[in-house]
Amino acid sequence: MKFKDQIIAITGASSGIGKQAAVDFSYNGAKTVILISRNIMKLNQVKKELNPHCNVEIYTCDISKKKMVYEVGQNIMEKMGAIDILVNNAGIGIYGKVIDQTIEDIEKVTSTNYLGMIYFTKIFLPSMINNKRGHIVNVASLAASFGIPCMAAYCGSKFAMLGFSESLSYELKNTNVGVTVVSPIAVKTNFFDNESFKGKMPHKLGYVLEPKIVSKAILRAAYSKRLEIVVPFFVRSAVWLKHTFPYLINPIVSSSFKE
Ligand SMILES: NC(=O)c1ccc[n+]([C@@H]2O[C@H](COP(=O)([O-])OP(=O)(O)OC[C@H]3O[C@@H](n4cnc5c(N)ncnc54)[C@H](OP(=O)(O)O)[C@@H]3O)[C@@H](O)[C@H]2O)c1
Repeated sequence: MKFKDQIIAITGASSGIGKQAAVDFSYNGAKTVILISRNIMKLNQVKKELNPHCNVEIYTCDISKKKMVYEVGQNIMEKMGAIDILVNNAGIGIYGKVIDQTIEDIEKVTSTNYLGMIYFTKIFLPSMINNKRGHIVNVASLAASFGIPCMAAYCGSKFAMLGFSESLSYELKNTNVGVTVVSPIAVKTNFFDNESFKGKMPHKLGYVLEPKIVSKAILRAAYSKRLEIVVPFFVRSAVWLKHTFPYLINPIVSSSFKE
């Protein structure tokens, strides 16, 4: 019951990793889990899977729209007073070369994955600092450390998420408020259902995680002092290799992806 009496807000809670995290927080003592996404029907379905003893609040919000996030954030603050844990999880990927993608596609990925995380952080951070309690968990990706061909906007948004979180973590020193990034490899979710991936992904992605594994890392991140948790942990060695020997590793990464 690690999260006893805690209020947890999760973006992208209608599916995949966010949905699993909502279920797991509810069964680990959370007092209230706040589910956020664009799709009210899916959120109502997710609610049925949560611990019946947990209070569940649902908010529809397109997190790429600043005005909408501020309105939803204000409503949450008025109802809850403050929250203990914010999980910035909602995200999308659109596959394609920079030269072929529309600027709107690039903006959509950036505003959802990166700006959406900032909008929600700005809403909830002041009360966390005032209360001297809270944790922000940002779900990035291994793509926060590796540039993948045809995923420039996505990788850019995740690199940015990691950089933003690192800076913020230094600013939060001595506040008792923390920020931790969770960076998984590929996960079995609806993420790759986007039209742009059709016919572009290898039939077998190799080692693919169950959402449950990533959710476990999110729950661990919510009381961790670490900046980044890579999932699975041994993939951190690949990140180390890339930073230490980029001239060896980068050609391997670039040749393993097809256009
Ligand atoms: N799957 C992977 O291989 C993988 C690997 C590494 C990292 N990740 C990251 O994990 C996170 C969760 O993705 P997932 O794999 O669980 O994919 P998913 O099953 O497609 O879930 C994505 C979630 O984000 C929400 N969402 C998307 N755009 C939104 C918007 N504009 N406003 C509000 N909610 C929005 C979706 O909800 P609605 O459609 O209901 O709005 C959905 O709940 C993402 O940040 C992704 O980058 C995924």
